[in-house]
Amino acid sequence: MPDSVTITDNRTGDSIEIPIVNGGVSSAEWRKLLPNTWFFDPAFVSTAACESAITYLDGDAGILRYRGYPIEQLAEHSTYLEVAYLLTHGELPTPAEYQRWSHEVTFHTFIHENVRKRFLDGFHYDAHPMGMMVSAVAALSTFYLDAKDIADEESRQKQVVRLIAKMPTLAACTYRFSVGMPFLYPDNSLSFTANFLRMMFEPLEHIRWDDPVMARALDVLFILHADHEQNCSTTAMRVVGSSHADPYSACAAACAALYGPRHGGANEAVVRMLHEIGSLENVGPFVESVKAGRGRLQGFGHRVYKNYDPRARIIKRTADEVFEVTGKNPLLDIALKLEEVALSDDYFISRRLYPNVDFYSGLIYQAMGFPIDMFPVLFAIPRTSGWLAHWLELLAQDAKIARPRQLYMGADEREYVPMERRTAAT
Ligand code: ACO
Repeated sequence: MPDSVTITDNRTGDSIEIPIVNGGVSSAEWRKLLPNTWFFDPAFVSTAACESAITYLDGDAGILRYRGYPIEQLAEHSTYLEVAYLLTHGELPTPAEYQRWSHEVTFHTFIHENVRKRFLDGFHYDAHPMGMMVSAVAALSTFYLDAKDIADEESRQKQVVRLIAKMPTLAACTYRFSVGMPFLYPDNSLSFTANFLRMMFEPLEHIRWDDPVMARALDVLFILHADHEQNCSTTAMRVVGSSHADPYSACAAACAALYGPRHGGANEAVVRMLHEIGSLENVGPFVESVKAGRGRLQGFGHRVYKNYDPRARIIKRTADEVFEVTGKNPLLDIALKLEEVALSDDYFISRRLYPNVDFYSGLIYQAMGFPIDMFPVLFAIPRTSGWLAHWLELLAQDAKIARPRQLYMGADEREYVPMERRTAAT
């Protein structure tokens, strides 16, 4: 059997055989037969927009790998900084490469005083941290004019280091501004995540920000969130990057995509849902109401995973470790019961709805002391390395500017009607 499809235009009887390569059929071949007939694929459900060697995801089998390495092994043995190197460079670093990389990232954690004093301080007192983050990342492009030199390999690498390094500093700034605490400079003797926790929470005594278990848990969460192939925000990064905008502007667009509740906001929705359920005896009636079409079970289901999200398994273990330090999040029992009830219910089984990464991540972040508003920001910090890996790949591929087509459904040509002759009907 040939590994190909044959398409016949029934109007003319013309056919074309298109090979299936790496699971895809080339639209360039299709265009030869049907030059002005477009695939109608809203939300790109069946469209592969690029070739990529970064992340492998098999949603049916519940497999996720970065550069070939299973997510389970990376979460167990690696650190976020090492994973960021792997994503942006393609290979795990040697000891010397890792030392240079972590030194560079560590020493780029400072942000220009004007970003904080003049720019961030100008926000309204109750500004959402993620809104501040989107704007601050975009503003960085005006501080690093060399970023426009995207053809220069050295300049590209410099922006990669700067962005990965400055995200936690910006994130902590947005939080401290939102609660009226003075900004804390980075402490470059600490690890990536320990430094971030300190910039966030020192000197708050009720938060265990200096406990190594917390820094390690955050490292694992950052590894799990570092990349997820062509998701909404990565697609935004690639689309804006394809116009050759500088990486800060493209990254701001990706942050904006992540801000949406359907993407970076799902773990917040989970926490709110668990609050609403309130107690174990309400779990059954809540599940029934979901089945009756009154709302969705937040943190369940995924566009790509039709099996248990492998990240959700890892996160459950991390949750146990964090709760040993912080005390159990009171919402955990409700979450566990909800999972148990849903996984044994035919509605969820038949639709292949399983917990996704967000089902437990919000509970951990909340127990660690992060307010709900910070959840999308916490997602943006590690996802920056994934976005940048895709940006570098896009430029290396010399990709065309992204420019989809549409199926026009509007009015046919009509004559302009002067305003005085217009009625409501026209
Ligand atoms: N609760 C109840 N029913 C659901 C859920 C859910 N969470 N998710 C899907 N379904 C049902 C739908 O009602 C539909 O049923 P039907 O066939 O009877 O109409 C069927 O399952 C298929 O659902 P779709 O909406 O077609 O699935 P899609 O792939 O488009 O949606 C999504 C994926 C958006 C993630 C969805 O599962 C959802 O809304 N989940 C809750 C929100 C969430 O957890 N988002 C986080 C995603 S992970 C991330 O972004 C990091």
